[in-house]
Amino acid sequence: MQQLHATTTYIQENTGGFVPEFGIILGTGLGALVKDVEVQYALSYADIPHFPVSTVESHSGKLILGLLAGRKVVVMQGRFHYYEGYTMEQVVFPVRVMKLLGVRQLIVSNAAGGLNPSFSTSDLMVLTDHINLLPTNPLIGQNLDELGPRFPDMSEVYDEHLVREAMVVAEDNGILLQEGVYVSVPGPMLETKAEYRYLRTIGADAVGMSTVPEVIAARHMDMPVFAISVITDMCTPDRIKKVALSDILKAAALAEPRMTLLIRELIKRI
Ligand code: HPA
Repeated sequence: MQQLHATTTYIQENTGGFVPEFGIILGTGLGALVKDVEVQYALSYADIPHFPVSTVESHSGKLILGLLAGRKVVVMQGRFHYYEGYTMEQVVFPVRVMKLLGVRQLIVSNAAGGLNPSFSTSDLMVLTDHINLLPTNPLIGQNLDELGPRFPDMSEVYDEHLVREAMVVAEDNGILLQEGVYVSVPGPMLETKAEYRYLRTIGADAVGMSTVPEVIAARHMDMPVFAISVITDMCTPDRIKKVALSDILKAAALAEPRMTLLIRELIKRI
């Protein structure tokens, strides 16, 4: 808690006491939303005390504070993944700082593999629920009572109102918006064919290596969450093929304008 407060104070002191309303975490290949932000402050992760430093080449490692659609936002351009070797506490540290900065709602994006056969590469999927297959989670250990309860409720992990509003925005703008269950796996390797079959069998529509820890930390603090996946590769038995990071980035780039529009319009409405 001391570290969280120290980091929050540092950010407040270096942003003229900026109080963001929305927190946004951008996933692999999805950092360009920042182009739509009227940037007021940009802090490198490396300069923020106690902040982990991003190691993935496709993430640029900056905390951006500014206006998106006229609303005050704090954007993580680049997130921390469990597979990079961070502890779960490190992975969710920025989300907790966001809460202390005043953020009231969290928006998360990620790149994911498609398990639902009705999806296609570069589709957008709104998360309606998740399955956590990471080997641990950020709430294990002594509970931070100042942030939330020991046993947080997870029955409505993704805010139903935000999901409905996103559906309206998608319809108004002619965007195909899938919805479904996201399963988080540790990575960093992609899955075997048998693993993809298993993940589909247990009820997942998309699979990825992020999001769930941050969402758990946000729900612990009773923050409403909206999350969206870009389907970067299809993982059904008939469509699975070898995938390189470049393919994932290509599919993410293709979907990015739609995702950006969706988030911007959603923020305007809520
Ligand atoms: N599996 C896990 N994570 C992913 C995938 C996948 O197929 N695609 C993009 N992120």
